Amino acid sequence: MIIGSVSENRDLEKRISITPEIAKKYIGLGFKVQLSKNYGEHLGFEDKEYSDLGVTFIDNDKSIIENSDIIIQMNLLDEDKSSFLKSNQIFIGVLNPFENQNKLEELTKRKVNLFSLELLPRITRAQSMDILSSQANLAGYKAVVESFSTFEKAIPMMMTAAGTIPAAKVLVIGAGVAGLQAIATAKRMGAIVFATDVRMASKEQVESLGGKFLTVEGAENLETKGGYAKEGSEEFKKKQEELLSETLKKVDIVICTALIPGKKAPLIIKENMIENMKSGSVIYDLAAIQGGNVAFTQVDKIVEKNGVKIMGERNILNKLPTSSSSLYAKNVFNFVLNLYDKENKKININLEDEIIAKTIIK
Ligand code: NAI
Repeated sequence: MIIGSVSENRDLEKRISITPEIAKKYIGLGFKVQLSKNYGEHLGFEDKEYSDLGVTFIDNDKSIIENSDIIIQMNLLDEDKSSFLKSNQIFIGVLNPFENQNKLEELTKRKVNLFSLELLPRITRAQSMDILSSQANLAGYKAVVESFSTFEKAIPMMMTAAGTIPAAKVLVIGAGVAGLQAIATAKRMGAIVFATDVRMASKEQVESLGGKFLTVEGAENLETKGGYAKEGSEEFKKKQEELLSETLKKVDIVICTALIPGKKAPLIIKENMIENMKSGSVIYDLAAIQGGNVAFTQVDKIVEKNGVKIMGERNILNKLPTSSSSLYAKNVFNFVLNLYDKENKKININLEDEIIAKTIIK
């Protein structure tokens, strides 16, 4: 069996799907691995490091795609390269089925077996494959680092002979995987941290990290059975707006991570709320690409309104490509292990397995 991966469009995606460490594991299982030339060079993984492990490099992406049983990428291939995919091949990636519906339909009609990893169920058995968690964790950390470096004051309290600098106040909106890591990172750097979420289960998690949880008075718990958020009622949104309007007047940095699966991100910080914030404050909108939690967010730009800087990026993980590739490659390896029937040395698409059934695109 051959596993292949071709270079992504590096202007948009710096992460890779097969690191040398993981190539070694695939080869150890009996797979052949073939990659595009200079596949990991931009991350410091020279071709020689891979080829010493037994990886083959091919200077022709068409040939890699056509000759692989399993193709592993971060993103869907562009249309030219997708046309090389054939029936019965397996394609694994983060395929964004809500946005790429037509392209995916065309590929499933051609009987390509597509697996989209953001559809993984949040069950214990799938934790080692959970790309949403591994990537969101790093994104939460990096959003804090980016916003702190844009903020023009010190973060921790400093008592010096020349006077005292107060600790910066940080508000984290959405305390899921990214939000919890943002809280932990901001606390470690000495900030005072507040957080809010619509899932009541997150209160305890926020508090265990030393954050102060802000509860929307009288709010129902907006958590689905799968552990995700539901959209709030108009009354809930009004109460949340009142609570946050008051908090925003006092905080210096806001990290937004609020998402509702399959929907546009909720608009939480509105124009009038920004008007009341302190000049010099910074908002990092991690939901930017899903429509943003903040009025004025523009992807890959720092917008300034009333002295408040609002930032958000298409792919913050391009600023941590080595760490994020390392975790992503491991997640995918664990996913492939689950698809692989070791005894018979073949791929087994067992639709009775919840992990396989939920990630396959039909
Ligand atoms: P996500 O990325 O979909 O959303 C981020 C956060 O925003 C969530 O905590 C959500 O409740 C919150 N949110 C949505 N709308 C909001 C609003 N209007 N105001 C404030 N907050 C809002 O979620 P993520 O980070 O992927 O985690 C979702 C759940 O999955 C959590 O319960 C987490 O514990 C669970 N999980 C379970 C895993 C498992 O394997 N069992 C692994 C990872 C996460």
